Amino acid sequence: MRVRAYAKVNLVLNVLNKRDDGYHEIDFLMATANLYDTLDIKKATTNHVECINAPYVKMESNLCYLAWLKLQEMYNLEGCIDIKINKKIPVAAGMAGGSADCAATILAINEMFNLNLSLEEMAEIGATLGSDVPFCIYSTFSRAQGRGEKMTVLNKKLPKFHLVIINPGVALSTPSVFKNHVITNNHGNIDKFLEELTYKDMLKNLHNDLEETAIKLQPSISEIKDYIAKKYDNKVLLSGSGPTILVFCEELDEMYEIYNYAKKKYNKTFFAKDCG
Ligand code: C5P
Repeated sequence: MRVRAYAKVNLVLNVLNKRDDGYHEIDFLMATANLYDTLDIKKATTNHVECINAPYVKMESNLCYLAWLKLQEMYNLEGCIDIKINKKIPVAAGMAGGSADCAATILAINEMFNLNLSLEEMAEIGATLGSDVPFCIYSTFSRAQGRGEKMTVLNKKLPKFHLVIINPGVALSTPSVFKNHVITNNHGNIDKFLEELTYKDMLKNLHNDLEETAIKLQPSISEIKDYIAKKYDNKVLLSGSGPTILVFCEELDEMYEIYNYAKKKYNKTFFAKDCG
């Protein structure tokens, strides 16, 4: 079975407070970006999970493999699984690539083994594997609260946008960004975002609480922002906990132009057309 796993982008990410379980209470809006990994999944006689273009991702810690083990145990599934992941979404980049692959695996196994699970049930299983997995199960414009597992599908239409996605090619771990984050009252206004869904209003309301913290830990993020700002005044936003930067574009020509400009300096530059 061949399936696609779409990347996720935060349009607003508010960090409200720190919880006793080590996680943070967050409130955020997420949308699917038109950038995806491709997974080939089949039944096998030995377990094998491989990222064909990111071999350093080990099977034992791969969320797809952990999803298989979890479903196998819960539903007494027989045999083994072979998963080959062709990665396009930058790894450890704040775009939920690992969670997207995990969600795609759960959806595929549900079908391959006729489990007849609902999206809610799969999201619940996914939440035990990672905070972003439930969103990736629904993979549509949604609000998430709690530690990210309390999902509301918004049934609202986002304005169409295109993204230039720039990854500095340096690591920035999600736990370290959250650990270093100082909670403020300066959050994005989610209600306003949802009231005003034109492209121009969306730009005004894009916000990521973690951006300042991520920049402190990884100054290359602000170098990218400066590089873009030298030539373009497009809205630039940190993706998730970083270090990937998103440049929002209304027109395709604009997206290609900024992509070509960014690609000259940053090898790991991608684009995603027709998001939202
Ligand atoms: O749940 P997940 O494995 O995706 O989270 C990775 C890490 O990010 C957590 O171990 C935690 O340090 C941090 N995190 C957090 N609050 C959240 C989500 C993640 O502090 N809501």
